[in-house]
Amino acid sequence: MVISFLCAAVALLLLPLSTNAFWILSHSILTKDRLDPIIDPGDVSMHVHTIIGASNFGPTVSNTSFQTANCTTSPVQADMSNYWAPQLYHRNLQNNTYTLIPVVNVNTYYLQRGGTNNTDIAAFPPGLRMVAGNVYRTTFNKSSNADLAITYVCLGTNVPQSNEFPTTNCKDGLRAQITFPSCWNNKTIDSEDHQSHMAYPIQAPDNGDCPSTHPVKVITLFHEWIFNVGIFDYIPGQKNWVFSFGDDVGYGFHADFINGWNQTVLEGAIKDCTASLFGNVEGCSHFVPTINRPLASSCTIPSVVDEPIVGPLSSLPGCNPTPVTKNATCPGLVTPKIVSGGVNSSAINDTSSSGKSSSTPVTNSTGSASSTTNSANSATNPASISTTSASSAKPSKRHLSPSDRKLKRTYGLF
Ligand SMILES: *[C@@H]1O[C@H](CO)[C@@H](O)[C@H](O)[C@H]1NC(C)=O
Ligand SMILES: *[C@@H]1O[C@H](CO)[C@@H](O)[C@H](O)[C@H]1NC(C)=O
Ligand SMILES: *[C@@H]1O[C@H](CO)[C@@H](O)[C@H](O)[C@H]1NC(C)=O
Ligand SMILES: *[C@@H]1O[C@H](CO)[C@@H](O)[C@H](O)[C@H]1NC(C)=O
Ligand SMILES: *[C@@H]1O[C@H](CO)[C@@H](O)[C@H](O)[C@H]1NC(C)=O
Ligand SMILES: *[C@@H]1O[C@H](CO)[C@@H](O)[C@H](O)[C@H]1NC(C)=O
Ligand SMILES: *[C@@H]1O[C@H](CO)[C@@H](O)[C@H](O)[C@H]1NC(C)=O
Ligand SMILES: *[C@@H]1O[C@H](CO)[C@@H](O)[C@H](O)[C@H]1NC(C)=O
Ligand SMILES: *[C@@H]1O[C@H](CO)[C@@H](O)[C@H](O)[C@H]1NC(C)=O
Ligand SMILES: *[C@@H]1O[C@H](CO)[C@@H](O)[C@H](O)[C@H]1NC(C)=O
Ligand SMILES: *[C@@H]1O[C@H](CO)[C@@H](O)[C@H](O)[C@H]1NC(C)=O
Repeated sequence: MVISFLCAAVALLLLPLSTNAFWILSHSILTKDRLDPIIDPGDVSMHVHTIIGASNFGPTVSNTSFQTANCTTSPVQADMSNYWAPQLYHRNLQNNTYTLIPVVNVNTYYLQRGGTNNTDIAAFPPGLRMVAGNVYRTTFNKSSNADLAITYVCLGTNVPQSNEFPTTNCKDGLRAQITFPSCWNNKTIDSEDHQSHMAYPIQAPDNGDCPSTHPVKVITLFHEWIFNVGIFDYIPGQKNWVFSFGDDVGYGFHADFINGWNQTVLEGAIKDCTASLFGNVEGCSHFVPTINRPLASSCTIPSVVDEPIVGPLSSLPGCNPTPVTKNATCPGLVTPKIVSGGVNSSAINDTSSSGKSSSTPVTNSTGSASSTTNSANSATNPASISTTSASSAKPSKRHLSPSDRKLKRTYGLF
């Protein structure tokens, strides 16, 4: 068996923790909805997301009952985490309408990267929540690992990887990539800004040593979100694509994660699945008992926010002018209701099934996970955004007051 051969090879050759080892969970889509249980628990969130992972996702997410979900879009069913990122829209500049660009699939990489001394890599603590990226980033700083953590690949072209949207059509899709911070403060599973309990490594966003403030090296999570831009018209010289929060440049891309893994399985995989598996989960004995691809690809839940999100729409759902505007106000905007039991999909006007393909091979995506140019040398946490008393005003009630929403926008909480 290939599997046992790989495990045996690790034992016999006594390989050091390889900086090339990784596995890929290729997720299908759970749902698309204007929800964000980290930033807006219990409420309609500020912009539309695509969500992958465990089926017990909703406006609020428990900290303890992940493993009770019926299914997850992860082929490894032991991973009952949720992950989400903003939706991308196609902007029709002739009549200023927006149409949702379907996500084809999401490749979730777990990279075994221990830094210069091959430090032991820890599993995410149970229930860890974290956010990578920042809605209000409108510049690119090549010395900031948080900025370098976001890249774009224009599939089907030779256009080099970039830190903002490519300016040509990507006939096989636009791959938005983001690396999560991999250094943990060893104290809290969340923080007021949902970022400052985590930090990027010192040398690079996806490899390196942890600053003393965040001493625990956890496994590096790297995402590829593939948007099917090729099914839409592309007009050169115009900004054809805009994220659901109004960003038509791409600097504000972000992603959220809540750890819902079976800890035993995750810890076992980090310890033992250190061969160069080329992303193949079947190569890891800890995963094999819970791999169920048919269940993963059929795992979906209905949207619960009662509003059209596919379009063509005359504006992005929520108050999301382009370009991204702090403290934007949209007089007369009505917040839609959260409907228990889900929204009739006809009302959502879903056209995502029109995508060209439903899966993308991930057998040789090694190149995209390789180390980013190493240019940072700061031990500070570039990912943290200032914590203010405003961000602690997170209400547990169902609806936020307009002033709470305004404060969240002001401080980049999304
Ligand atoms: C899980 O499955 C049961 C039985 O089919 C169903 O009643 C329940 O709503 C499902 N829960 C979720 C979170 O999908
Ligand atoms: C889950 O944990 C987070 C972070 O510690 C906390 O803010 C939140 O209130 C918890 N949620 C529940 C439902 O216990
Ligand atoms: C805008 O143009 C697109 C493409 O030509 C068309 O599909 C859509 O219906 C138009 N929307 C409106 C509101 O005119
Ligand atoms: C790596 O190990 C060397 C030798 O023990 C030590 O001097 C150095 O500080 C270590 N580096 C890190 C980042 O831990
Ligand atoms: C760019 O990032 C570096 C490293 O975090 C930081 O020291 C520097 O101040 C940043 N530059 C700007 C203009 O924000
Ligand atoms: C993290 O905290 C635990 C428990 O307090 C401690 O045993 C461990 O040494 C800490 N790890 C690091 C890298 O500081
Ligand atoms: C987690 O996985 C281990 C190993 O497969 C299994 O024994 C245990 O029952 C699982 N825990 C839960 C909560 O499913
Ligand atoms: C649904 O889609 C159709 C065709 O794409 C469009 O004309 C219509 O305006 C959409 N309806 C809503 C409510 O978005
Ligand atoms: C947004 O509002 C905050 C507080 O209400 C204020 O401090 C800040 O200057 C405003 N920012 C802009 C760009 O208007
Ligand atoms: C869903 O909505 C469509 C269009 O409004 C309607 O024709 C259909 O009967 C509805 N389906 C259900 C199950 O309510
Ligand atoms: C995988 O990609 C690498 C780097 O682009 C290339 O050298 C190698 O031949 C590829 N392997 C396969 C099996 O395609």
